[in-house]
Amino acid sequence: MRLKTIAANWKMNNDEKETTDLLSELLIHIPSGAQKIILAPSFVHLNTALQATYNSAIEVAAQNMHHKVSGAYTGEVSIKMLKSIGVQNVILGHSERRTLFNETDDVIFEKVKLALEFGIKVIFCFGESLEERESNNHFKTIEKQLSKLLDLSTNDWEKIYLAYEPVWAIGTGKTASPEQAQEMHAYIRKILADKYGEELSEDVSILYGGSVKPNNAKELFSQPDVDGGLIGGASLVVGDFLDIVNAV
Ligand code: 13P
Repeated sequence: MRLKTIAANWKMNNDEKETTDLLSELLIHIPSGAQKIILAPSFVHLNTALQATYNSAIEVAAQNMHHKVSGAYTGEVSIKMLKSIGVQNVILGHSERRTLFNETDDVIFEKVKLALEFGIKVIFCFGESLEERESNNHFKTIEKQLSKLLDLSTNDWEKIYLAYEPVWAIGTGKTASPEQAQEMHAYIRKILADKYGEELSEDVSILYGGSVKPNNAKELFSQPDVDGGLIGGASLVVGDFLDIVNAV
C-alpha cells in the first residue's frame, strides 16, 4: 500500500527567521502518521530543518545537488555534503532547473544515479510544457523524460518518488484537472508496469505538482493513481499547507 506523501518545495523563499517560524508552526500542527511529509528548504536552511524535525516522522529534502561527488565547482553542493548532514531526500529534475538552469535529461540522470548510490531518496520531477500539451505531445514528452530511469534496477525504485508537474500548472494558478492528473499518472504507472511488472508499478508513489491549493487538493488526491502532491506556493502559508496535508 502506498502511503500518501505531501512534499513542500519552498524554492528560493524565506530567510532564517521565516524558516524557523514556519517549521515550528508545522511541527505543532501536522498530524502524525496518516501521511508522509517531506520539507524542502533552501540549502542554507537544511540543517535548521533537520534539527527541527529530528525525532519526528517528517523528512527533509534538498532542492538540488551537483552531478559530481566533489571537486572544483564553485558554488555547488554535493550529495556527499547532503548525506553527511543527514538529508534523506533530494528533488531532481524540477522544471525550473530544466528551463532556467538548462539541466538536460542526461545531467539529471547522472544526479539520480549518484543520489541512489549514496542511499538518498529521489523526488524525480518531470512534466510537459503548455505547447507540448496543446500539440498533443504530452505523453511523448513524459515518456522521453522518464526513459533513462527505466535503466534503473528494481531495488533502485524503492528510493524513487515520481512527481508529475505539468509546467503550465507550476506557479500559474492553473491546475491540471483531477481527470488530467489521473490520466497521466495512470499512463506513467503503465510505463513502469510494462518495464518492471505490475507489482513494482503499484509500489511507486506518483505525486502531482502544479498549483495544488486547499480548494483542489482533496479532489486531486482522491484519484486512484495520485499518491499525494509536491506543493510550491501554498506550502509557504501555514494554514494552506495544513489544509492540503489534511485533504489526504
Ligand atoms: P506551485 O505549487 O507554486 O505551482 O509549485 C509547484 C512546484 O513547482 C513544486 O515543485
